[in-house]
Amino acid sequence: MIVVDETLNKKWNWWPLFPLYPYGKKKTILRELIPDQIWSLEQIQGLYYVAVPIRMTVIKVDNGLMLINPLPPIILPSASGLEHKIGLPALSRIFNDTEIWLCPGQWSFPINLPLDFLGIPSKRSRILFEEGTPHIDSFKWSSLGPLNLGLGRYQEISCFHYSTKTLHVTDAIVGIDSTPPEIFNFDPTPLLFHSRERGDEPLIDSIEQRKKGWKRLVLFSSFLKPGKLNIPPLKKIFKYSFKKDLRNWRSHFGIYPFLWDEDWESSLVEIMGKDTPKIQIAPVLQKLIFPRSKEVLLKWLENIKSFEDMEYLIPAHFTAPIKFTIEDCQKLINEINSQKWDKLPEDNKFLMGLYKKLFELGIIPEEVNL
Ligand SMILES: [Fe+2]
Repeated sequence: MIVVDETLNKKWNWWPLFPLYPYGKKKTILRELIPDQIWSLEQIQGLYYVAVPIRMTVIKVDNGLMLINPLPPIILPSASGLEHKIGLPALSRIFNDTEIWLCPGQWSFPINLPLDFLGIPSKRSRILFEEGTPHIDSFKWSSLGPLNLGLGRYQEISCFHYSTKTLHVTDAIVGIDSTPPEIFNFDPTPLLFHSRERGDEPLIDSIEQRKKGWKRLVLFSSFLKPGKLNIPPLKKIFKYSFKKDLRNWRSHFGIYPFLWDEDWESSLVEIMGKDTPKIQIAPVLQKLIFPRSKEVLLKWLENIKSFEDMEYLIPAHFTAPIKFTIEDCQKLINEINSQKWDKLPEDNKFLMGLYKKLFELGIIPEEVNL
């Protein structure tokens, strides 16, 4: 693992555009995923210490490099995931002779602006599929979606790299295991913050505390509000706040608005592998985007299943590379087709409720398939 020089890359002045932890300080680590062929640059991104790593992948291609999911401050396959495109304008100015490929249907909120207004040079940009696909001798491209989300659309483009037998996706499939990602070695604060039970507990650094904090971050990022998490009444929160030695920004002044049930770890069974990553459709997408468009997801997986010698998966979040073969792909298909997929475990209540509310408000349209 190589740490990208801190003084060069740590500061990112555009953070107010998308104010996520760790704000203007961005530490980036560089890892070689496939020797001499694929590298990843990883950063941490999150809200209120619910921080998860995010990855840009760099692949060696004929005459250069292909960058997937650009990161600040340093080809864009997702239409809706803002966190995966915020770095593109700066990147396209630094590399001013690069070719840019975008996922169809780029949108901005609250008003839809033309690409150049968003800082993406339209002269050098092309739309994937509508204007072809790059490096067709080295990659097979496939699209998940588009789906109509009301405010915009969900679509992501994945590609299979023949020579390394790797499948590259953005958000749709992830593999989660119990080891905290390496990037937390530089600042384990988010892990230590969430490894506590109450606001008056100090942030203590140990392997166990880091692992416990990581498990809770995984639950937050998978379910937004996990089923075994309670929000205590304000009176109780303040009772344990502002204690001596915890009156600082790092500890959020002892304000800790969470109360976990004793058996909170049982929620991890379905989403986290112990030593090997548990491969799954990202839980948030399962409940917010795919409840009524199972067939779109299945069509995409069937397409992926045709990459016969596929060996690895490299997503933009969580573990990478992950062993991923057509058998693993078939397992996902079976799961989606099983009754389990439609069942409502306690942990998904919040997301399902949110989906229902958005639907009732008319934000999610009746017909989601485009
Ligand atoms: Fe993402």
